Parts: sequence; C-alpha cells; structure tokens
Amino acid sequence: MKRIVTLRNIFFFLVLLIVILAGCETLKISKPIMPVREYEKLIVGRLDAQYVGTQNCLSACHYHDTIRRNFEASTMGVQLTRKSGMPVVNCESCHGPGSLAIEGLTPEKVAEDAKEGKQTACNYDTFIDIKNLPPQAQSLICLKCHTANATFNLHNWNAGAHAISDVSCIDCHNICKTFKKGGPDLTVKPRDTAAMCYKCHQEVIAAFSLPSRHPVPEKRIFCTDCHDAHGTTNDKLLKKPTIKEACTQCHAEKEGPFAFEHADTTEDCKTCHSPHGSVNDKLLLLREPFLCLQCHSGHRTSSTSTAESKSARFTRCTDCHSQIHGTDIPSASGEGRFIQ
Ligand code: HEC
Ligand code: HEC
Ligand code: HEC
Ligand code: HEC
Ligand code: HEC
Ligand code: HEC
Ligand code: HEC
Ligand code: HEC
Ligand code: HEC
Repeated sequence: MKRIVTLRNIFFFLVLLIVILAGCETLKISKPIMPVREYEKLIVGRLDAQYVGTQNCLSACHYHDTIRRNFEASTMGVQLTRKSGMPVVNCESCHGPGSLAIEGLTPEKVAEDAKEGKQTACNYDTFIDIKNLPPQAQSLICLKCHTANATFNLHNWNAGAHAISDVSCIDCHNICKTFKKGGPDLTVKPRDTAAMCYKCHQEVIAAFSLPSRHPVPEKRIFCTDCHDAHGTTNDKLLKKPTIKEACTQCHAEKEGPFAFEHADTTEDCKTCHSPHGSVNDKLLLLREPFLCLQCHSGHRTSSTSTAESKSARFTRCTDCHSQIHGTDIPSASGEGRFIQ
C-alpha cells in the first residue's frame, strides 16, 4: 500500500517536472516587446550618429545660446569636471548623438543663410524624439544618471503612483524650458509646487478654494510638506507612514499620548477632518453636532434649565467638550469627557 502511494507520488512528480520544463521552454522562446535595437534607439538616439560634444553642436549657430549659458551655469553644467567623479552632462546626454544633426552646418552656411534672412536649423529629426517617447522611456533618459543611489529622493520612484500612472520626469521638470525662460536654477521651489501639481490635479484646486482650508494658496504650507511626488512607501504619496504622523509633524499638541484618549478615533485625523479643505469650519467633514452624532447620541446635562439641556443636544458639542483630541484632566465625574 505504502509502495503504491510512493510510486504514484513519483508519477505526479514526473508530470509536474514536465509541466515546469515546458513552461521554461515557452519562456525561452518568448519575444521581447520590442527588438533590442529599436529599444536602444529609443533611449540612445540614432545608432549611426556620433557624439560630437556641445562645442561642436553649438559652434555654428547661436540660436540656443540662452539654453547653453543657463545650462552651463546650472548644477548640471560645466562645474562638473571629469575629476569630480560625477557624470559629465552635455546637450547630447539627453538629446542623443548630434553628428547627423549638424552635418554640413558650417559657420559659412549660417552666414550665407543669414544674408538671405533665413534661420539655419540643425536637423532635429535625427535627435531622440523626447516629446513622443513613452513616459517610461522619457524617465529613463534621466534615470540613467539619477539612479536611486545618486539621487536619494528617487528611491521609491518605480513603485510610486506617478511612475505607475505614466507620469514622467519631464512632466514636472521641463529642463530646457527652464533654461530658455527661467534661468540656471533647476531646483523646485516649494512656492511653485502647487501650480506644478494643479496641471493635473484640478480636483485639488477646488478643495483649496473652500472656506476652511490649509493655507496652501497663501503659500504658508506646501503640497510637498505632506507629499513626495517621487513616490513613497506610504499611501497617497504621503511622506509619513500614518495620517496621524502626517498631521502631528505640525500640530504636535494633538499627538498625545493623553491620560484620556478619544478611543482610537484620533489615530486617523481623517475621521473628522479633510486634509485639504472643507465647507465646514476647522476642516471638519461634517458640522457639529452632526459630526459627533454619527457615533454618539446626544444627552441632557444635569442642569435643570431646559434651554441648556436642549443646547447639549443641538449646539456645538465642543463648547463643553473642548479638549476633543484628548486630555490629561478628568471631568467632574472623574472620567475622560474632554471637558478641560
Ligand atoms: C538633462 C537633459 C537635457 C539636457 C542636458 C539638455 N536638454 Fe534640451 N531638452 C530636454 C528635454 C526633456 C526637452 C523637452 C522635450 C522636447 O520638447 O522635445 C528639451 C528641449 C529642448 C529644446 C526645445 C525647446 C523648446 O522650446 O521647445 C531645445 C532647443 C533644446 N532642448 C536644446 C538643448 C541644448 C542646446 C542643450 C545643451 C546646451 C540641451 N538642450 C541640453 C532635456 C535636456
Ligand atoms: C548625463 C547625466 C544626467 C542626465 C542624463 C540627467 N541629469 Fe540631472 N543632473 C546630473 C548631475 C551630475 C547633476 C548635478 C548634481 C546633482 O545635483 O545631483 C544634475 C542635476 C539635476 C537637477 C538639479 C538638482 C539640484 O539640486 O540642483 C535636476 C532637477 C535634474 N538634474 C533633473 C534631471 C532630469 C529631469 C533629467 C531628465 C530629463 C536629468 N536630470 C538628466 C546628471 C544628469
Ligand atoms: C509630479 C512631479 C514630479 C515628477 C514626476 C518628478 N519630480 Fe523631481 N521634483 C519634484 C518636486 C516638487 C521637487 C522638489 C523637492 C521636493 O520633493 O520637495 C523635485 C525635486 C527633484 C530633484 C532635486 C532638486 C530639488 O529641487 O531639490 C531632482 C534631482 C529631481 N526632482 C529629479 C527627478 C527625476 C529624475 C524624475 C523622474 C525619475 C523626477 N524628478 C520626477 C516634482 C517631480
Ligand atoms: C503630469 C500630470 C501630473 C502632475 C504634474 C502631478 N500629478 Fe499627481 N498624479 C497624476 C496621476 C495620473 C496620478 C494617478 C491617478 C490618480 O490617482 O489620480 C497621480 C496621483 C497622485 C496622488 C495620489 C496617489 C495615490 O496613491 O492615489 C498624489 C497624492 C499626487 N498625485 C500628488 C501630486 C503632487 C503633490 C504633485 C505636484 C508636486 C503632482 N501630483 C503632480 C498626475 C500628475
Ligand atoms: C496638510 C497635508 C497636505 C497638504 C499640504 C496637501 N495634501 Fe494632498 N493629501 C493629504 C492627505 C492626508 C491625503 C490622503 C487623503 C485620503 O487618504 O483620503 C491627501 C490626498 C491627496 C491626493 C489623492 C486624491 C485625494 O484627494 O484623496 C492628491 C492628488 C493630493 N493629495 C494632492 C495634493 C496637492 C496637489 C497638494 C498641494 C496643492 C496637496 N495635496 C497638499 C495631505 C496633504
Ligand atoms: C506643514 C505643516 C502642517 C501640516 C503637516 C498639517 N497642518 Fe494643519 N495647519 C497648518 C497651518 C499653518 C494651519 C493654519 C493655522 C492658522 O491659520 O493659524 C493649519 C490649520 C489646521 C486646522 C484649522 C483650520 C481652520 O480652518 O482654522 C486644522 C483642523 C488642521 N490644520 C488639521 C490638520 C490635519 C488633519 C492635518 C493632517 C492631514 C494637518 N493639519 C497637517 C499646518 C499644518
Ligand atoms: C473626533 C473628531 C476629531 C478627530 C478624530 C480629530 N479632530 Fe481635530 N478637531 C475636531 C473638532 C470638532 C475641532 C473643532 C474644535 C473647535 O471648533 O473648537 C477640531 C479642531 C482641530 C484643529 C484646530 C483648532 C485647534 O484646536 O488647534 C486642529 C489643528 C486639529 N483639530 C487637528 C487634528 C489632528 C492633528 C488630528 C489627528 C491627530 C485631529 N484633529 C483629529 C475634531 C476631531
Ligand atoms: C468615529 C466615531 C466618533 C466620532 C465622530 C466622535 N466620537 Fe466621541 N467617542 C468615540 C468612541 C469610540 C469613544 C469611546 C467610547 C467608550 O470608551 O465607551 C468616544 C468617547 C467620547 C467621549 C467620552 C465618553 C465616555 O463614555 O467616556 C466623549 C465626551 C466624546 N466621545 C465626545 C465626542 C464629541 C463631542 C464628538 C464630536 C466633536 C465626538 N465624540 C466624535 C467615537 C467617536
Ligand atoms: C452644556 C455642555 C455640554 C454640551 C453642549 C455637550 N455635553 Fe456632553 N457632557 C457634558 C457633561 C458636563 C458631561 C458629563 C461629564 C462628567 O462625566 O463629568 C457630558 C458627558 C458626555 C458623554 C459621556 C456620558 C454620556 O452621557 O454618554 C458623551 C458621550 C457626551 N457628553 C457627548 C456629547 C455630544 C455628542 C454632544 C453634542 C451633541 C455633547 N456631549 C454636548 C456637557 C456637555
């Protein structure tokens, strides 16, 4: 009996082995999504072109001088020597090799064209078509240098909501537009982040226009105080692992621990507050007393005055329960009722 079972097991094992091997075989013959050469072209540019260096690229014409000047003055620019150990960056690092683009472009031809009132242009078609690349390939142009090791804040990029949702580096960092119109500084100023984010998150504009809101429009706090656009290991690209920590980094007095806690409701401030904005005072999700009446029934106070007992049911509960986030001081009955 025992032997039969063993033989049977061996039989099943063999069948399993064959299935697994068959699986490996199909893996071996499966084709890449795109021929490797096409893929290289996507990232590197025309494979028949040569790298010629920024000097050669730009010696014949001065049309891109603003970009070049600001580029050279930027952190990516010339102060990075080979000795610094940093990757040396030039126009071709992102746009691809340029020899075909400047073929036949001599200072003489530029001068001739100028005489006829023509603007000489290099052959843009031979560069990487950055604008029309798939977003992941656009980002790879940056990530070949800005690896997670070199640029620490990009550690969580690949798993982040933005990378997953086809947002690329250049949607937010428009390098050459900055050089052309802005200046050499590529860092993102906190005060500019809201406009950067609103390009795509219009629903958030609405929230920050509500009567009660965090002072983001006033530029007193910023999207990047709470979110990291490059991706985090937390929900909703939050910088902190819990909502409570996200909030108490600024509202430390609400952190506790308190002798009398409001059960565990204050572990998630979103139980009662909206993080961006609300039609109700103090960013509350609902007006009082309705906010409280979701979980509590109202009560009469010990007072004999009807007006007051009514008020306990129908007015702001926090007029009396003013320490709603927790307190160390017991109420008259010795319990934690958040009165003071
Ligand atoms: C770090 C990467 C990077 C470097 C370095 C770089 N560029 Fe760009 N450049 C881009 C990206 C991204 C775009 C936007 C994509 C597009 O519009 O095709 C762009 C766009 C441009 C444009 C079109 C601008 C416009 O207004 O539409 C020009 C011209 C240009 N770059 C020239 C240069 C020159 C000249 C240099 C060197 C001095 C240079 N770039 C270096 C990434 C780079
Ligand atoms: C050839 C390598 C290389 C490529 C490609 C590259 N970078 Fe950079 N980048 C650098 C180096 C080196 C610096 C300067 C050192 C630093 O600040 O990390 C830099 C600096 C920056 C800065 C400014 C950082 C600061 O604190 O001043 C930004 C922003 C930036 N790069 C974004 C990009 C984006 C977006 C792309 C893709 C379009 C890109 N880079 C492509 C090498 C590169
Ligand atoms: C959704 C918008 C967004 C995307 C996409 C994005 N970034 Fe950023 N990046 C920012 C913001 C905002 C900052 C400012 C720093 C912060 O997070 O507070 C920043 C900062 C940086 C910095 C440091 C310079 C500084 O301003 O301090 C570098 C370098 C950088 N990003 C590179 C990249 C690269 C490379 C990619 C693509 C892999 C990328 N970023 C994608 C928004 C973005
Ligand atoms: C180019 C468009 C674009 C820009 C610019 C952009 N985002 Fe996003 N963002 C998206 C997309 C697409 C998603 C994923 C779909 C969604 O949740 O709406 C997303 C998702 C998010 C999420 C939700 C993540 C989740 O887990 O649900 C947050 C938070 C966020 N973005 C914050 C920001 C901030 C902060 C900025 C500015 C620094 C910004 N975004 C700029 C396109 C953009
Ligand atoms: C005070 C902290 C804080 C600030 C400042 C802030 N957010 Fe948020 N944001 C949050 C929290 C917390 C959530 C998570 C909400 C949830 O889980 O439902 C969130 C969620 C989001 C989402 C996901 C969709 C949604 O509404 O739930 C987007 C997109 C977003 N924020 C974008 C932004 C942008 C853009 C800015 C700046 C204009 C900004 N946030 C400023 C705390 C903040
Ligand atoms: C970067 C700092 C910062 C963070 C993080 C932060 N807040 Fe605030 N909060 C502020 C500032 C500043 C004000 C405005 C205070 C004022 O006007 O005096 C404010 C105001 C408030 C108000 C009162 C609004 C009103 O209408 O008076 C509430 C409620 C609030 N925050 C809740 C939260 C919650 C919930 C979170 C987490 C999602 C949070 N805060 C995260 C800085 C922050
Ligand atoms: C059970 C509901 C509830 C929860 C949960 C809650 N709050 Fe509140 N919070 C309120 C109410 C109600 C008010 C308004 C009190 C008032 O008007 O006097 C308020 C007001 C505030 C204010 C502005 C007034 C002040 O006291 O400074 C801040 C800031 C605040 N809450 C932060 C937080 C933070 C941070 C958390 C999470 C740790 C949190 N709240 C969780 C109900 C709540
Ligand atoms: C999401 C549900 C929820 C909301 C909203 C809420 N509470 Fe509570 N509250 C609780 C829980 C749970 C307890 C703990 C009950 C217990 O220990 O028996 C509690 C305890 C209390 C206590 C102490 C009662 C006791 O028996 O010890 C008071 C007072 C109180 N809440 C007042 C309020 C007020 C005022 C509001 C509105 C600003 C409010 N609560 C909003 C869930 C909530
Ligand atoms: C006029 C002041 C006042 C108002 C308004 C008020 N309370 Fe109270 N509440 C008290 C007092 C006083 C106690 C008893 C304190 C003690 O135990 O010492 C109490 C006790 C409680 C308790 C615990 C005992 C019980 O009866 O269940 C809860 C829960 C509570 N209140 C919720 C609320 C809610 C919800 C509101 C708003 C609808 C509210 N209170 C409005 C004064 C008030």
